[in-house]
Amino acid sequence: MSDARDWAELLRWYVEMGVDEAIGEVPVDRTRLRPAQTADPTSTDRRDSPPAVARTIAPSPARAAAARPVSDATITPGLAPAGAGLANAAATLEELGRAVAAFEGCALRQTATNTVFADGNPAARLMLIGEAPGGEEDRLGKPFVGRSGQLLDRMLAAIGIDRTAAYITNVLYWRPPGNRKPTPAEIAACLPFVQRHIALVRPAVLVLCGGTAASTLLGTTEGITKLRGRWFDLAVDGLDRPVKTIATYHPSYLLRSPERKREAWRDLLTIQEELLTINKTS
Ligand code: URA
Repeated sequence: MSDARDWAELLRWYVEMGVDEAIGEVPVDRTRLRPAQTADPTSTDRRDSPPAVARTIAPSPARAAAARPVSDATITPGLAPAGAGLANAAATLEELGRAVAAFEGCALRQTATNTVFADGNPAARLMLIGEAPGGEEDRLGKPFVGRSGQLLDRMLAAIGIDRTAAYITNVLYWRPPGNRKPTPAEIAACLPFVQRHIALVRPAVLVLCGGTAASTLLGTTEGITKLRGRWFDLAVDGLDRPVKTIATYHPSYLLRSPERKREAWRDLLTIQEELLTINKTS
């Protein structure tokens, strides 16, 4: 590197590759680490495929209740139980929001600008769960406000729904640096809050957007292509009956793979039909 222009060029390239956060005080030469030490969670891009999970489930309440979304080996000892205690102590969404903002068991909080808790109407019948905040969401502290959020808004509008009729959150409350895929340990740390989140909102219909949300909450290794468009009865602690749950493609995946929009449209019509049935019968 000879002059400032080369350095500026290098920095621009880093940002394009998603390397846009400093996460340590000193640089680490990873080429000198032994193989086991090089498994750096910051080194992969976020994709729309599910994390490794322990078991598969059939779409029945009993199996969903029994399913554990990530293998125990991936859970940092002490962190998940701490989160579970805090999450279950929250009696309202406001308390849960405060508990999440104060929770120190997920390292992503240190690199994030804001905690991204939720948006929309907590009294809505429809709840949607995505993967994790991206750059815009991190900046504004609101889920789904970037490009994929705009597509999500258009998808919902196509079935007559806006954010006053939906409640939106994510599996993770903090942005993974560079929008990389969340690690199983990060997901496990946040999961008790997400489960409590569902129990406090009590949605009539839950939509899991993308492979990470679907595999985490359904506790399955099946990919989103197989999971989407099917109804599951999701048992959630604190709720006396299972939540009608469906998975669909993540909007950011649809931005990259527009040929999948036809299937997403079918999922949206299925969701709309279910909501109309619920409205008629209640
Ligand atoms: N992608 C998500 O999964 N969630 C957001 O909030 C934004 C992008």
